[in-house]
Amino acid sequence: MSLVKFKNFYFRYKGNEEYALNNINLNIEKNKFILLAGETGSGKTTLLRCMNGLIPQFYSGHYRGKVEIKGNDSTQVNIADLSTIVGIVFQNPENQLVSMNVEHEIAFGMENLGFPRDKIRKKIEEVVQLTGIESIMDKAPFEISGGEQQRVAIASILALEPELLILDEPTANLDPLFAQNIINLLSSIQKKTNITIIISEHRMDLVVPIVDEIILMEKSRVVAQDKRDNIVNSDIFNKLHINKPIIYSIFKKLQTRNYYQGDIPISIPEALKILKNK
Ligand SMILES: Nc1ncnc2c1ncn2[C@@H]1O[C@H](COP(=O)(O)OP(=O)(O)O)[C@@H](O)[C@H]1O
Ligand SMILES: [Mg+2]
Repeated sequence: MSLVKFKNFYFRYKGNEEYALNNINLNIEKNKFILLAGETGSGKTTLLRCMNGLIPQFYSGHYRGKVEIKGNDSTQVNIADLSTIVGIVFQNPENQLVSMNVEHEIAFGMENLGFPRDKIRKKIEEVVQLTGIESIMDKAPFEISGGEQQRVAIASILALEPELLILDEPTANLDPLFAQNIINLLSSIQKKTNITIIISEHRMDLVVPIVDEIILMEKSRVVAQDKRDNIVNSDIFNKLHINKPIIYSIFKKLQTRNYYQGDIPISIPEALKILKNK
């Protein structure tokens, strides 16, 4: 069974004439690391808001078609119940952090859902280790860096044991080193837990090498969903006005000038291997 399934889904925010989502058909499966890419305004955030029922339950507007979350119609399930299946980390984690210290922050969601005490304790230990925040447990959310806040937000959500973790531009406010750290962290979490992670992210150099699948959006539509290598070598990816990985741009130029015929590499080690064999 898919985790999330969109069936001919349309959504228009209240007061807008244009659809923010236009005839979406999409399947999100288990145990995948997925990149969602597209120009600003193409509908990425809106699409992600549908995956935990926020749209249409919380944002008012007009919708048609259906979104199913583990087989359940997303309009029929309580958003709190969905939070144990789907967790979302937004761009500004400080808006999401509500407690006096990091430990309470992580416990907060579990307490709300009525997890038993000993389970909460065990879970805190587990996610703190997974996200590497042992040293900041007693700090207040405002005392820690943006990168650490992002880790705490991820830890609080992982504690609820979601099957799908969604991150909407999680590195937008981080400097490059923190961004790299968060992306590496997500990659290792995905491998260790086998949950599905979907990330909307502009730093293509960092994410393209680690994802399994890519979804491309353009003007409110999903224009492609496929395995990473198929997407990277497609015309549609080439034509889309989004950041491209540096390696991609170099090899694409070589390809158009007929200096290179093979598949486009997605990481520096792969690119070096190709160049050595030339
Ligand atoms: N809360 C909202 N109310 C009204 N319109 C919105 C809201 N959020 C997004 N939109 C509109 O929906 C369209 C898609 O936006 P969004 O999903 O944020 O795209 P992206 O995340 O790809 O930048 C844009 O035209 C945007 O202005
Ligand atoms: Mg967005």
